[in-house]
Amino acid sequence: MLPTNYTKNTAPVHAHLVSGQGARVSDVGGNEYIDFCSQTLNINLGQCHPVIQAAVSEQLGKLTYASSRFSSDIADRLHAKLVAITPSPLARVNLSSVTGSLANECAIKAVRKKTGKSTTISRMHSHLGQSAESMRISGKHWENTYLGERNTKYLPAPYCFRCPFGQTANSCNSECLDGLEGILRDSGDDINCIIMEPVMMDAGVLAPPKAYHERVRQFCDEHHIPLIWDEIQTAFGWLGTTFAMDVYGVVPDILSLGKGLGAGLPIAATIMTEEYDVLAYGEHEFTSGANVLSCAASLAMIDYLETSDILPAVVRKGAWLRGALEKLSEKHPCIGDVRGIGLMLGIEIVDPKTGAPDGEKALGIFREMLSHGVILRISKVGEHSNVLQLKPPLVITEDDLVEVVDKLDLVLSN
Ligand SMILES: Cc1ncc(COP(=O)(O)O)c(C=O)c1O
Repeated sequence: MLPTNYTKNTAPVHAHLVSGQGARVSDVGGNEYIDFCSQTLNINLGQCHPVIQAAVSEQLGKLTYASSRFSSDIADRLHAKLVAITPSPLARVNLSSVTGSLANECAIKAVRKKTGKSTTISRMHSHLGQSAESMRISGKHWENTYLGERNTKYLPAPYCFRCPFGQTANSCNSECLDGLEGILRDSGDDINCIIMEPVMMDAGVLAPPKAYHERVRQFCDEHHIPLIWDEIQTAFGWLGTTFAMDVYGVVPDILSLGKGLGAGLPIAATIMTEEYDVLAYGEHEFTSGANVLSCAASLAMIDYLETSDILPAVVRKGAWLRGALEKLSEKHPCIGDVRGIGLMLGIEIVDPKTGAPDGEKALGIFREMLSHGVILRISKVGEHSNVLQLKPPLVITEDDLVEVVDKLDLVLSN
């Protein structure tokens, strides 16, 4: 029997999961699904990956838990690994966060402490977490007054498909960043940081051009403002690289990591330059931080990305999927836009007659796909929930990609 005592902040239950393998999960009724969103957009190596199982089992046989009052071999190894795989200015790691929201909290505390300044620059529709402060800086929650006073200024999101500045890819000069100078001036130079997700997954999979991020970096350099990149969604494989930094060639002053970092186990990290490594012991420590089992999973996951051919395979599979979706858009004009990078893609659903966002249709597709055994996610872009998010585990097979595209074709044909 299905349990009925869910708390009200649990999403409507689609399926009560009991097992999984790779990109497939099964529910209590014996139904199998292709998980095309890596659960909470996080389980990069899929369910029950042998390297994760082996690493966690081995660790479980050695040491189950280490308090933040101690160090541990496995956490030290992960610290060293994270420093080794990030660009050299990012030399200091705080591994004490259990989840992405806290990694961003760590970053925000650090820039406030270092700069003594109070205003944060974020973007409309951004999702930076659900702890109180990470919600306050998230553009997605800008109207939630119950969160209390906030001191965040929001730039427009880089929504290229419906550019509010009327630009195209060829004419774009990152006009959505033009407000930066004004915010700086109006705040009286009181900016503690700019915080950005390099690709805004939750805002409808918005992947701005390279010049956009280069302009932000330049602005930060000119005004000595720390740049925080929230790579909680983008790191560890889906873009076909380890980091979005590798795609964009931009290095922030502080980097937040979560989701894929644990390959399904809870862990998050904040990596910063020496300049922003200012929090003292006791200012960002949590009971389950640097959890040794999660550290073991992280190290095994990073090692797998480095030693297997998974990243080039993501590039290949992502290119195929994008091509297949673009082909579908010719047949089904309700597909207004296909965007994203690698295996982190979005499909914007529109009314074919008017081109207007069509959230109802998107929801219908989402539900139909679920009834055909494919789990997608849906996200808001602007005021409309009309973007289907696709972010399958990196290990998804080519056969599963074909099956999902065929099912989408079928659903769109009905
Ligand atoms: C870009 C981004 N930042 C932060 C978070 C918060 O991470 P968590 O849910 O692990 O706290 C999320 C979660 O979806 C996210 O997408």
